[in-house]
Amino acid sequence: MKIYIETLGCQMNRLDSELIVGLLQSAGHEILAARRGAEAVLYNTCSVRQHAEDKVYSRLGVDAKRKADRSLIVGVLGCMAQREGKSLARRYPAVDFLCGPGRIHELPALLEAARAGRFVVALDPDRKTSIDLQAVEALEAVDLSRDPACCPSESQAFVRVMRGCDRFCTYCIVPYVRGAEISRSPEAVEREVKKMLVSGRSEITLLGQTVNRYRHKNGETTTRFSDLLARLSSLAGMRRLRFVTSHPVDFGRDLLEAMRDLPNVCPYIHAPAQSGSDAMLKRMNRGYTRAQYDELISAARQIVPDVVFAGDFIVGFPGETDADHSASVDLIRRVGYKNAFIFKYSPRPGTTAAKRYEDDVPEAVKRRRNLELLAAQKTQGLAHHRQYIGRTLEVLITGKSAKEKKKDARQEPSSQTTSDHVQLQGRSRGDHVVLFEGPESLIDTYAEVRITDASDLSLFGRII
Ligand code: SAH
Ligand code: SF4
Ligand code: F3S
Repeated sequence: MKIYIETLGCQMNRLDSELIVGLLQSAGHEILAARRGAEAVLYNTCSVRQHAEDKVYSRLGVDAKRKADRSLIVGVLGCMAQREGKSLARRYPAVDFLCGPGRIHELPALLEAARAGRFVVALDPDRKTSIDLQAVEALEAVDLSRDPACCPSESQAFVRVMRGCDRFCTYCIVPYVRGAEISRSPEAVEREVKKMLVSGRSEITLLGQTVNRYRHKNGETTTRFSDLLARLSSLAGMRRLRFVTSHPVDFGRDLLEAMRDLPNVCPYIHAPAQSGSDAMLKRMNRGYTRAQYDELISAARQIVPDVVFAGDFIVGFPGETDADHSASVDLIRRVGYKNAFIFKYSPRPGTTAAKRYEDDVPEAVKRRRNLELLAAQKTQGLAHHRQYIGRTLEVLITGKSAKEKKKDARQEPSSQTTSDHVQLQGRSRGDHVVLFEGPESLIDTYAEVRITDASDLSLFGRII
């Protein structure tokens, strides 16, 4: 079958889609780069905010009309399938099958059934009832049989070290849709990482919803996340080792010291604060106070040279007062994040916050607070990036810049003077976006770039 996959949501979902491409190709299907001509459309969905779900509902509405004219199989995969289950298919009869994030190994069979005209569903059991160990093993096999050729980049790869989340922040749907927290064995992670390194990728990003909570026990031996980093960092071909997303609570000294001592571990920490106010942090069940978060930031600055922070914030959580909001503004001003993602609170059905607290901050107030945090971060982001002017950074060149890609899409000629030069984009070890001119042949290689200018979101420079 000709299949088109649209992926929403976080890096974990993008990794799942990459694995799905491999699975479906080895089952004899063809994966299309665009929707045109597709016999099946699969949505790998996200439930983290209402907005992400609305996008899928609107696609499903359009698909219903398409199905009136021709045969088309529509599958909903991922977190939304798991959250809504059959009720989604009842409301959107265009849906032919559902597949939860813990069931992607069943996808080839689901597609066959759908092709035969049967409505099929593969979801995880409610996490309160049981963990399906067989399914976990089957998923593990999917990760391990991964084909590096399906990796979207030739220089970078994402490798999962954990599944699920046990933290239950009160606003968050992830623990309900991604299931219980499980750390993969260090042997399995190492095997997969080696495979990616042998295939030529040299920047590996370890993934987990709370990646630094990684902990694996085998008899008497416990592998902590810092131990895992040490083990992986010494593998041949490893040039950069990264990890996302971290939880502030589990950032122990051992991890900060590993970041200092292991030369290829990148000095980049994405540890979302969510709020700067103790009252909100408590209501969110984040498990730390503002003072503890501040301590983490100062310990990291002391121990890890050149450390760079990124963060997430939620504005308009139930009960958030102007004073709580000011505490978030203050936190942004003090930390000096490289970038911060700022979200308006969106109640998720079934979560503790949705059950217990009224969504009482008016939309207009959420919008204003969102803009205020964005403005504070813009100022900090600019100051952060300007520190690098005059410095030379190692950059992994990941592709053309967004501007250049847009030009390509409009089929405009390149405006550069030297004809083979385009605007390239890369990432520094601290995860800064770096833009500079150069030949396309440099994509997927490393270069030294001298920084000459900065904006609130990126650095500009000249290759040396
Ligand atoms: N596991 C990661 C990311 C989880 S989802 C972590 O714990 O950091 C990514 C971000 O979405 C969160 O950090 C949070 O800022 C935001 N988010 C999650 N649930 C939300 C909700 N109900 N409304 C608004 N933002 C939300
Ligand atoms: Fe959600 Fe909290 Fe788990 Fe992150 S740590 S995935 S915000 S429950
Ligand atoms: Fe969304 Fe699921 Fe990721 S809810 S953020 S795709 S874990």
